[in-house]
Amino acid sequence: MILVPLRQTLIRSGLKYYSSALPKTIDIDGKTFKTDDSMTNVTPNTLALVGRNLHLNENHPVGILRTMIEEKLNSTSNNFKTYNNFKPVVSVYDNFDSLGFLPDHPGRAKTDTYYINKEFLLRTHTSAHEIPCFQRIKNFLSKDKNSNIPPEQLTDKTGFLISADVYRRDEIDRNHYPAFHQMEGACAWKRNPDDPQEHINKLRKDIKQLEDQLAQEKLKITLVSDDVSLEANPKQDYMSDLEVNLCSQHLKRSIELVVSEVFNQKIESMKLLQKNDSNYKCEIPTELKARWIRAYFPWTAPSWEIEVWWQNDWLELCGCGIVREDLLLRSGYEKDSSIAWAFGLGLDRIAMLLFDILDIRLFWSHDKRFQNQFQKGKITTFQPYSRYPGTSRDVSFWLPKGLTKKDINDNDVTEIVRGIGSDLVGSVKLVDVFTNTRNNQVSVSYRIFYQSMDRNITNSEINDLQQKVCEAIVEKYNVELR
Ligand code: DAH
Repeated sequence: MILVPLRQTLIRSGLKYYSSALPKTIDIDGKTFKTDDSMTNVTPNTLALVGRNLHLNENHPVGILRTMIEEKLNSTSNNFKTYNNFKPVVSVYDNFDSLGFLPDHPGRAKTDTYYINKEFLLRTHTSAHEIPCFQRIKNFLSKDKNSNIPPEQLTDKTGFLISADVYRRDEIDRNHYPAFHQMEGACAWKRNPDDPQEHINKLRKDIKQLEDQLAQEKLKITLVSDDVSLEANPKQDYMSDLEVNLCSQHLKRSIELVVSEVFNQKIESMKLLQKNDSNYKCEIPTELKARWIRAYFPWTAPSWEIEVWWQNDWLELCGCGIVREDLLLRSGYEKDSSIAWAFGLGLDRIAMLLFDILDIRLFWSHDKRFQNQFQKGKITTFQPYSRYPGTSRDVSFWLPKGLTKKDINDNDVTEIVRGIGSDLVGSVKLVDVFTNTRNNQVSVSYRIFYQSMDRNITNSEINDLQQKVCEAIVEKYNVELR
């Protein structure tokens, strides 16, 4: 009986927490959007990251990596047109529906995605721009669908690369931040109805060229496994077995070329460090183990992920696959006219590894001691200019009777903490949940790690922040602090 009123209090206090500060409209990138009490969950803190465009800065680790990959892929016989200026607000349709995400896909949840209102959100991945880019490859479009893209935006290239900032509500730690960067890539071949061998021959030639390039790379990739079975990872009916085979070989070799380039650059920078610093000890790999594993994405089939063996662990680098026919049809391609592959990779995690950056927040630092360390085209090892130790504080509370841990979402708690501590928040982790057997009340504890990347923060500053965090949690969830 008591459950209902308590739940209502929880929901009411939740709404109050967000709506007390919620303006009627918000401006993003020069455009005004109406907010919506039930959907808007984007915060000023996250909106402040929009427009930083770290990927466009050629002297920033993310920008350096972006350029390196673009150059490598454009050294192949396929031509990729680059699109690096798409704005981060996209429709729910573009981000999810157009790619075939089912209505109940967890990625759509308000706990995982920043919504502006019911219709618009901050893109969660660069795949949101695949259709507009497929539409820009003019030789593939059917004539009657040509009209919605202005002629000057059409391109003769056969592939595209999109780099951009993407946003996800998530827990925060050294590897996770509300914003990060992705690169999307795709490549297409047109079937010639008068010559069914034409695109097959072209694909064979392109693959041969990629294999020759790979053979010349300094760092050799050893594939320890390659999932080629189509049983559990079915192909599309619109393609023949031969087409799937060639298209996936082309996709895999293209990505391996990028991986070989990136890790070779890393190895070169390790060698340099070893030469200049006798204290630097580490084993320098002479080959790179990689494996292709089966994956699932709603708009590609079959799909894979590539992982590489790096510092004693498998590191997941990139998701990819053969583009499903419905996506090409939605892009205005005539039925049976073309085949294509696509991939998407996260830039930040790779850039952290390349430049030895241990905390993702550093990418966003305005400190010149960070920004001035990097130069276009060069992989260098980050020199920490200061290490401020940081401090942890726990917030522990009893949930109102009848509620369980399921009623408290970790990403929501993280948002509350970041809303108060901003970039001084290094991580927020759930550390304890237990039920008092006497009265069945549930206790929950989170550990917050406060640390500045650029300066010392005092104890009293941290205490003030922690006090505000506690108050905000009490207000939002109607809980009792322990
Ligand atoms: N958008 C996916 C993600 O964020 C990555 C991805 C996977 C992109 C497969 C693709 C693809 O284009 O084919 O996890």
